[in-house]
Order: sequence, then C-alpha cells, then structure tokens
Amino acid sequence: MNTKDKLIIALDFPTAEKAVELVEKLGDEATFYKVGLELFLNSKGKIIEYLNDKNKKIFLDLKFHDIPNTTAMASVFAAKKDVFMFNVHATGGKKMMTKVVEEVRKINNSSLLIAVTILTSFSEEEIKETFKTEANIQELAMNLAKLTKESGMDGIVCSPWEASSIKKSLGKDFKTVCPGVRPLWAATNDQKRIMTPKKAILNGCDFLVVGRPITKNENPVKAVQLILEEMKEGLIEKNN
Ligand code: C5P
Repeated sequence: MNTKDKLIIALDFPTAEKAVELVEKLGDEATFYKVGLELFLNSKGKIIEYLNDKNKKIFLDLKFHDIPNTTAMASVFAAKKDVFMFNVHATGGKKMMTKVVEEVRKINNSSLLIAVTILTSFSEEEIKETFKTEANIQELAMNLAKLTKESGMDGIVCSPWEASSIKKSLGKDFKTVCPGVRPLWAATNDQKRIMTPKKAILNGCDFLVVGRPITKNENPVKAVQLILEEMKEGLIEKNN
C-alpha cells in the first residue's frame, strides 16, 4: 500500500460545493477522503456518488449506533456504496458489531469495518457521570477495542499515541485509524494529543486522518505533498 492510500483527508465542509472544490484542487495528489455527518447530510448523500465517480476511496464516518438489526441495515447501505471504510460505535456492543459483520460480509469482503471506542471529547469526570463506572478512559477504550476485535470487525479509531499498544495487544492486522496528526508546520487547532505524520507511521498507525492542516491551508496541494513525504520517511524507517 502506498502512502496516498494511508492518508485520509477529512472533508469537514458544510456544503458539497466546498468539498468538491478541494477534491478538484487536489486532483491526483490525494485518493482517500473522510465524509462525516455534516457533509453527508448537507449533500443529501450525493457526495458519495461524486467521490465514487472520481474513483476516490471513502471513509464514511457516520458512527452508526443503534440496536443490532438497525445498525446492520445502515451498514448494508454503506457496503452497497462500496465505501472503503465506515464506522460504528463499539458501545453498541458485541452483538451489534457481530451482526454488522455478518450482514456486510454477505455483500462484500472489502469494506473495512471500524469502531469508535470512547469519544475523545469525554473527560474522566464525564465518563463517571455518564456510565457510573470507576474504570478510567484507557481501560474502557481497551476493553471496547477487544470486543471490536472479537466481533470480527477490522479495527478502531484511536489516537496515534495508542496505536502501538493496540497493535501489541490485538495483533498487527487489527487496523488503527488515527486522527490527531499534525506536522510541525501546522497549527494544532483543538487537537490535544497530537503526533507528526512520520512518528504516527512509526508508532503503528495504518491510516492517518488529517483535516485542517490541508483543508484550511492556502496551498493544500503542497500540504498534502509535505505530509506524504513525511509518511514515506516513516515507512522507510519502519521497514528497515
Ligand atoms: O482538522 P483535523 O485534522 O483536526 O480533523 C480531524 C478529523 O478527525 C475531524 O473530522 C474529526 O472530527 C475527526 N476525529 C478526531 N478525533 C477523534 C475522532 C475523529 O479528530 N477522536
């Protein structure tokens, strides 16, 4: 897999027009895009057809969370659109994730099934208040990652700081999809536990999700090229 297939650009835009403008500007420099709720809903889903027509890979980041059957049927929609990757909330439970795997695999064997463990917006206090538990965020996240693997899902969204321990515990084939990546030249924005693209690759991230350092950049083409260059350095070092 080359570096372009590992860099997922987050299309966090309020309209399809704005997203399309960036995709057109980047042309062949980028192949993989993340579509979240804002863009999916505002474009009435049409952004998916557009990206498919352009032969781009899609990470459909809609974080499905419902009873097993309902989540599985939403997942079947994603699988029918041939998205490369989509996600559900691991807190939906093992039964839900198992049902998603079962139904999606009737349609295709290729879409990567990813789970979100604990949203990074949660603080320890909020976890206690919400779930009435004394377990800390790390313990909860690791337990949910384990359940994700046991359900037959392909991987999780996690911080680049956790990617190596996830790989150690759950195996090198269990995919790690990592936001919170920042080259040294980019603003951190509201991301707290950031890592550079090179270090993220060295730390075991399979896919890097990068938004604002590219989408808000005056020269997004250059930004993508610099990030890919750093990722390549990481891959070379890792394989040596
Ligand atoms: O602009 P930035 O590079 O911070 O964007 C990161 C993307 O990854 C955003 O779409 C954000 O919603 C998403 N994300 C995240 N942290 C998580 C899960 C998803 O930043 N824990």
